[in-house]
Amino acid sequence: MHFCHTLPLATVCVWLALLGDAGCFPTHTNTAKRHNPLITRLAKLQAQIHHLQEKIGDTTEYSDDPVQVAFSVSMEKSHIVSTGSHLPFDRVLTNIGGHYNANNNEFVAPVTGTYVFTVNAVCGTYSYMHIALYQNETPAFRTLCDNRTGSSQQQSGGITPLRLTKGDKISVRMVYPLATSSEAYGSGMTSFSGFLL
Ligand SMILES: *[C@@H]1O[C@H](CO)[C@@H](O)[C@H](O)[C@H]1NC(C)=O
Repeated sequence: MHFCHTLPLATVCVWLALLGDAGCFPTHTNTAKRHNPLITRLAKLQAQIHHLQEKIGDTTEYSDDPVQVAFSVSMEKSHIVSTGSHLPFDRVLTNIGGHYNANNNEFVAPVTGTYVFTVNAVCGTYSYMHIALYQNETPAFRTLCDNRTGSSQQQSGGITPLRLTKGDKISVRMVYPLATSSEAYGSGMTSFSGFLL
């Protein structure tokens, strides 16, 4: 109702203003005030739509196209490992999706996403080693086990979420001491697991 501006008769405008037509004096504040309930309502509707879209997205992701990826492997026997090589896990407890390869002791990400990995280790006979969880050729975290005294009763380990790109390779390697070998203890005490969040 902004036609007042075009009317030559100011008196008509005043008269309309008295009747409550704020369009005669259309300041921004006035307009905002008049539209406030609508803007509030619109914002609420937008939030509701957003909420519903998220719900639909979730439902689609989990019920129509479920991607389950999880593995858990451990050492039943103790194994001698040399610096730079992968820890060999001889027992596969879980391998949902089959993306852990027991032949080369590597997990390969089947899809891009966020994964969680754990490593636990106990050192065998007078052994000592630093162990790293690798994403391709980059170490993500390290842990160490130490039985140099021959009386270790300790386990060490670590856990981390990692953002992986499809095809990324995850492995557990002995990284220290350099150019030697050490024993990783079995009985399920040295282990490696991971899953897609
Ligand atoms: C640590 O080394 C000693 C000596 O060889 C061995 O008897 C013991 O079993 C080792 N500890 C573990 C947890 O393997």
